[in-house]
Amino acid sequence: MAEGKRKSSVHVRKASPLDAAGIVKVLEAVASERVHSAIDKVWNVEQEARYLESLSPREAFHVAVDEVQGIVGFQSLDLWSAQLSSMSHVGQIGTFLLPQWRGRGIGRQLWTSTLSFARQSSYRKLAIQVRASNTAAQSFYRGLGFKECGRLRRQVIIDGMEDDEVLMEYFL
Ligand SMILES: CC(C)(COP(=O)(O)OP(=O)(O)OC[C@H]1O[C@@H](n2cnc3c(N)ncnc32)[C@H](O)[C@@H]1OP(=O)(O)O)[C@@H](O)C(=O)NCCC(=O)NCCS
Repeated sequence: MAEGKRKSSVHVRKASPLDAAGIVKVLEAVASERVHSAIDKVWNVEQEARYLESLSPREAFHVAVDEVQGIVGFQSLDLWSAQLSSMSHVGQIGTFLLPQWRGRGIGRQLWTSTLSFARQSSYRKLAIQVRASNTAAQSFYRGLGFKECGRLRRQVIIDGMEDDEVLMEYFL
């Protein structure tokens, strides 16, 4: 079986601040590709650990962990707005995998955990912003049940290249 088609043998668990280094490693890999995410500068491990510590009980990162490689990907679930109680029913998610671990069902595996956590945490809706050029991620989220609901034009500029952000939403 080809490397990219191998089934995942990772397990998924909720992250703690001790996972900051593994999460930063994944984000650095994705950000260095320049094409997938609006994130172009990555926090250092200490900043990431502080952020993980600051999450409220209704927010969580889930990490996909390989026995040998450690953290190979994660999915975040944050409140859409930490300030507005009128939007406390809305969460935003993000999903990031190391390149060699994509296309093996790990994104779906992470989603099972995030969705279960979101239901237990009384969210009614999840939203995501995806770069318009990232059609693979849009297909991924569509496959999970997200629907496109808007577009922010010329919202991202990375290396001088403009990109739109596509908004997608999912009702629980
Ligand atoms: C997008 C991403 C999170 C998907 O995770 P993944 O583990 O590769 O996806 P899975 O293997 O679980 O695939 C789940 C479904 O998504 C879809 N999908 C995944 N990758 C796809 C691709 N490259 N093109 C089209 N559809 C794709 C498939 O429909 C698949 O459905 P199937 O189970 O019926 O085959 C992952 O590839 C990734 O980290 N990409 C780079 C970072 C990124 O773009 N993040 C999103 C930022 S908003």
